[in-house]
Amino acid sequence: MDAQALEREALSAIEGAASPVELDEARIRFLGRKSELKQALREVRDRETGMALNAVRERLEAAFEARERTLRTAELEAVFAGGEALDVTLPGERPRRGRLHLITQIRREIEDIFLGLGYEVYDGDEVATVFENFDALTTEPGHPSRLPSDTFYLDEGTVLRTHTSPDQIRVMQSRQPPIYMVSLGRCYRRDTPDATHSPTFHQVECLAVDRHITLADLKGTVLHFSRALFGPDRDVRMRTSYFPFTEPSVEFDVSCFLCGGEGCGVCKHSGWIEMGGAGVVDPDVFVNVGYDPEAVSGFAFGLGLERIAMLRHGLPDLRLFWENDLRVLGQF
Ligand code: PHE
Repeated sequence: MDAQALEREALSAIEGAASPVELDEARIRFLGRKSELKQALREVRDRETGMALNAVRERLEAAFEARERTLRTAELEAVFAGGEALDVTLPGERPRRGRLHLITQIRREIEDIFLGLGYEVYDGDEVATVFENFDALTTEPGHPSRLPSDTFYLDEGTVLRTHTSPDQIRVMQSRQPPIYMVSLGRCYRRDTPDATHSPTFHQVECLAVDRHITLADLKGTVLHFSRALFGPDRDVRMRTSYFPFTEPSVEFDVSCFLCGGEGCGVCKHSGWIEMGGAGVVDPDVFVNVGYDPEAVSGFAFGLGLERIAMLRHGLPDLRLFWENDLRVLGQF
């Protein structure tokens, strides 16, 4: 065996090993039990050859160890330099931008319309007394809306408000006219959820109380409001209706914003879209809050926000507002 040739071969294999795994393979080949060197050492008979071969073995072992350290360090450095390091020059990932819920957007838009008219925005409680929600609004004792099958009672005298109209009472009880206020917020009714019903929904309430307020003021305000929401070319019409707390009572429609009154799917081919309920405040309501019905008069109207949002965006199902699927909400 040519010990020098073997050593040269082994050293070049050590240098050539590109990874700890390759280095291990070389180690087995040159220093393993079955390696040429180990075999030769086993068969050695004279002291000189033995010392020479041992010296080769020691140099090779040292070379393996040195190479091993180099490779391990390089491996670590590659990890730091590669995927696991923070490359500050990489373009960042944009955080998803949040946005207001569609109902909140409409709510703020309506608040702005009325703030522009000099109205105040009143923030009413969702919990109302039976007096505020029904009695003061002269709702007959036997009126079906009072039934526990329609209304959530917290106790005998307290309910989750079934409309925003109790805010009329609270505002009037707390101060003297003139009053120009809107109130927007959640209402509750015992309805089974479907595409057009939800036990929780939103309403806007408008109340104006002053001297000489008439049905004409109501119509002008509703017209302004409807045009602000659905465009300057809209028209408004009123149909007689009934609410316990207004006299006369009306329901008002806006001319269809899609077909302009010709008739289409949105307005169910009538040219008109139902908006909400309204009327001249019943004098008995004034009596219930301590106002003099001879001295002041007023109008009120109310409508649902979900309906407006659905009409505007052609949304098919009211439940979309509550599912809070960002893929839906993110479109508005
Ligand atoms: N509160 C009535 C409802 O929920 C709407 C309404 C408000 C009617 C104000 C007249 C005046 O249907």
